[in-house]
Amino acid sequence: MVDVAQRAGVSTATVSHVLNDTRPVLPRTRQAVLDAIDELGYTPNTLARSLVTARTRSIGLAVSAISNPYFTEILQGVEAGALKHGYSLLIADPHDDPQHERKVVQLLHERRVDGMIIAPSAAPAELLGYLEQHDVPTVFLDRLVDSPAEGPLRFDQVCTENTEPMTRLVTHLAELGHQRIGLVAGLPGLSTTTERITGYRHGLAHAGLPYDERLVAHGNSQADAAEEATHALLSLATRPTALVTANNAMTIGALRAVRERELAVPDDLALCCFDDFSWADLFTPRLTAIAQPSKEIGAQAVQLLLERLASPGRAGRTVRLPSAFVHRTSCGCPESSKSPERPESHRKGPES
Ligand code: HPA
Repeated sequence: MVDVAQRAGVSTATVSHVLNDTRPVLPRTRQAVLDAIDELGYTPNTLARSLVTARTRSIGLAVSAISNPYFTEILQGVEAGALKHGYSLLIADPHDDPQHERKVVQLLHERRVDGMIIAPSAAPAELLGYLEQHDVPTVFLDRLVDSPAEGPLRFDQVCTENTEPMTRLVTHLAELGHQRIGLVAGLPGLSTTTERITGYRHGLAHAGLPYDERLVAHGNSQADAAEEATHALLSLATRPTALVTANNAMTIGALRAVRERELAVPDDLALCCFDDFSWADLFTPRLTAIAQPSKEIGAQAVQLLLERLASPGRAGRTVRLPSAFVHRTSCGCPESSKSPERPESHRKGPES
């Protein structure tokens, strides 16, 4: 920094202000500093800076199933938001296992990240205890955690709408005449699972159809378990004529079971899915799905975390982002009957 300051003919304090954006610097002076940095090949030592500021300008991100396109896109949103504000990411995969989750979060905390963004497991009690004890600024995403019995929630949360979109899928199938609509549900204990089951029940109730628990099979949010769950539903004496899957991985599992049984979608079994993904449009028939605004969830999580870092004492906020109904043909509707309903922010291009 001393070399940069000498070359630019300014004080080291001015170099610091240019680097950290801590005070306005005249454009000409700023350019002189940037030129000197360029000519000398100077890179700031962030470790040394952290010792002075007690901030690392890093965010810990803990999400399970990173290879799932839904979470990969969340990660892209988090990364872009972090980069925009000069933060880097440290990433861990808790494997949806409460013990492992607690361990990786501790490791991230030991690296002194400024805050964390976490998709919590189905049993996050230990995790919450750790975060509370160490007062770690945290934003939860996708899965909501319950407010503590005492006092307000000290964390922020961001997720998509789950109940109403699931109701919409079930209502749509009921309007097409289906009376036995099966559900392949996610991992018990996740708020997404509970809310999507509630949405399924609302959809049946709106259509005047009875709730039959035999038509709900647990796919545990994963393809293999969903394949088994779908086989179980399709083995019922009176099998469902339509199926709703509660996430993208379980849609893959359900499609495998359907293929093994040589059933045709939608003629033998109509199918509607929660989660849209790049290939949903390539299946035959094209999949009718709910698209979650995954990149936006990630970006919003960063925004909430930055707000919390700026005012640590404020009460926790929960942000719900809307999802979109993407009407294609696996529900049984002909190609011509549909209008595109997907907003630009939910669209999947080849780049996503
Ligand atoms: N939650 C919400 N949506 C999802 C998930 C999840 O864990 N996995 C795939 N889509």
